[in-house]
Amino acid sequence: MKTINGFLLLSTIALAVFQLVQAQSQSGFISLDCGLVPKNTTYTETITNITYISDADYIDSGLTEKISDSYKSQLQQQTWTLRSFPEGQRNCYNFNLKANLKYLIRGTFVYGNYDGLNQIPKFDLHIGPNKWTSVMLEGVANATIYEIIHVLTQDRLQVCLVKTGNTTPFISSLELRLLNNNTYVTQSGSLMSFARIYFPKTAYFLRYYDDLYDRVWVPFSQNETLSLSTNLPIDTSSNPYNVPQNVANSAIIPAKATNPLNIWWDLQNINAPSYVYMHFAEIQNLKANEIREFDITYNGGQVWQSYFRPHNLSITTISSPTALSSSDGFFNFTFTMTKNSTLPPLINALEVYILVENSLLETYQDEVSAMMNIKKTYGLSKKVSWQGDPCSPQIYRWEGVDCLYLDSDQPLITSLNLTTSGLTGTITNDIYNLIQLRELDLSNNDLSGDIPDFLADMKMLTVM
Ligand SMILES: *[C@@H]1O[C@H](CO)[C@@H](O)[C@H](O)[C@H]1NC(C)=O
Ligand SMILES: *[C@@H]1O[C@H](CO)[C@@H](O)[C@H](O)[C@H]1NC(C)=O
Ligand SMILES: *[C@@H]1O[C@H](CO)[C@@H](O)[C@H](O)[C@H]1NC(C)=O
Ligand SMILES: *[C@@H]1O[C@H](CO)[C@@H](O)[C@H](O)[C@H]1NC(C)=O
Ligand SMILES: *[C@@H]1O[C@H](CO)[C@@H](O)[C@H](O)[C@H]1NC(C)=O
Ligand SMILES: *[C@@H]1O[C@H](CO)[C@@H](O)[C@H](O)[C@H]1NC(C)=O
Ligand SMILES: *[C@@H]1O[C@H](CO)[C@@H](O)[C@H](O)[C@H]1NC(C)=O
Ligand SMILES: *[C@@H]1O[C@H](CO)[C@@H](O)[C@H](O)[C@H]1NC(C)=O
Ligand SMILES: *[C@@H]1O[C@H](CO)[C@@H](O)[C@H](O)[C@H]1NC(C)=O
Repeated sequence: MKTINGFLLLSTIALAVFQLVQAQSQSGFISLDCGLVPKNTTYTETITNITYISDADYIDSGLTEKISDSYKSQLQQQTWTLRSFPEGQRNCYNFNLKANLKYLIRGTFVYGNYDGLNQIPKFDLHIGPNKWTSVMLEGVANATIYEIIHVLTQDRLQVCLVKTGNTTPFISSLELRLLNNNTYVTQSGSLMSFARIYFPKTAYFLRYYDDLYDRVWVPFSQNETLSLSTNLPIDTSSNPYNVPQNVANSAIIPAKATNPLNIWWDLQNINAPSYVYMHFAEIQNLKANEIREFDITYNGGQVWQSYFRPHNLSITTISSPTALSSSDGFFNFTFTMTKNSTLPPLINALEVYILVENSLLETYQDEVSAMMNIKKTYGLSKKVSWQGDPCSPQIYRWEGVDCLYLDSDQPLITSLNLTTSGLTGTITNDIYNLIQLRELDLSNNDLSGDIPDFLADMKMLTVM
């Protein structure tokens, strides 16, 4: 397990030891085992009990591959196959969901020398038209995980793998988990997971079943602290974050009760704004004359919370409504007991996310839908660039498509050139939904039937 300056990064956890509790339904989950064939295969992974399906219905491109057998035994089944993308700059998964829903999206990557080249690939992940992260793999057979919490802007979600050099992008598994809309609220942008830790006496990675939303919780121990735990049930469900019982029922305090508790991390990524969520519950049965009250400050005296008292056996989550920043990416939180407190500060769990701004807008939803339908109607899945958003970002605009880009407005399609594309059948009325279309070229195809009337109604259309 890798630590960065003593702080564990979520992206490098091993997919091995998970503790399980009682069953929960997997509603709101989409769990894709990429490259799984035949495409109607489904199975329940034995360690997590998560049911995986093939990714085939969510993507038009890529090759299905298998990692080297020698690595399989140390890895969960969803990483045994993968989908690689030797063709095209950008290849995208496409999910039909609902706008405004909030999802935790997790990509898992195990190279496993599937291509025999023994060369670890490097590439980028995009969410819609915006860059999510660069994928950096730790080793040939290490499982690397990236997570992002993202609110859908359309009834469609596109997750793309983008080539950045000579190596071939690939993905082992892609998972979506529907979250409560009232949690992880940002002023703008999406949240990339940096750390999600808790402080158990016995170290276990937790996720689904323990966690209803299948968040991965990494056990963490800190120097100069003591771990507390309780067997009593904690009220976790009246708090929208709904942290797992097994996360809530342990906490750390400073080893020397009069010392402050310090927790620090380094985002490395200088100046990236971040969001921090801290979860607290009193798990000791306080006597009448006992008070646990503390102040939380960070980076030398900036106030985060004052006179805080954790509630008896009930989770309170503290976060700030706006992003935090630090000039060098270093954060150092200090928990100090107040004068009136008789007990040292405590914390049960901590989450840190890096803000990812979604600065590029997607093409209008109706136009994206029209283009997706046109692609399907004419069987154009072989058009290598016809992946993801048709206009955005501009450098990955679909071949034969031109768009209108106005500041602070979504792009619109102005030109569609499908010359010599082997089109057959009639002219589809999806074209009518391209409301700003000025040029349409359908020459050199095998289209039949009359020129439809709707084309005459398209006021902008001047060249055909
Ligand atoms: C990668 O996997 C190898 C072999 O299992 C292991 O020794 C190493 O510590 C792992 N590296 C990281 C960064 O987890
Ligand atoms: C914990 O203590 C050990 C030994 O004193 C030290 O090497 C290590 O750097 C410390 N870790 C952190 C996170 O401070
Ligand atoms: C999967 O599809 C194949 C044919 O494509 C069929 O023979 C097989 O029974 C199907 N399996 C399941 C589990 O549906
Ligand atoms: C997995 O789920 C099945 C049925 O849903 C259950 O019987 C089994 O105990 C679960 N496995 C584990 C390890 O909890
Ligand atoms: C979720 O909350 C946002 C505001 O934070 C709101 O705009 C959106 O419509 C909500 N989505 C749902 C599905 O309720
Ligand atoms: C905390 O809650 C438990 C269970 O409801 C109760 O037995 C205990 O007395 C409470 N402790 C305090 C200090 O209120
Ligand atoms: C964090 O802040 C505390 C209190 O200001 C200080 O004692 C400690 O050395 C700092 N930790 C690091 C790693 O800078
Ligand atoms: C601390 O306790 C004293 C005596 O009970 C009380 O008067 C004072 O208001 C308390 N201070 C705070 C900040 O709660
Ligand atoms: C469509 O593309 C072809 C080949 O790239 C080009 O020759 C033709 O002029 C284009 N049509 C229009 C209307 O621009």
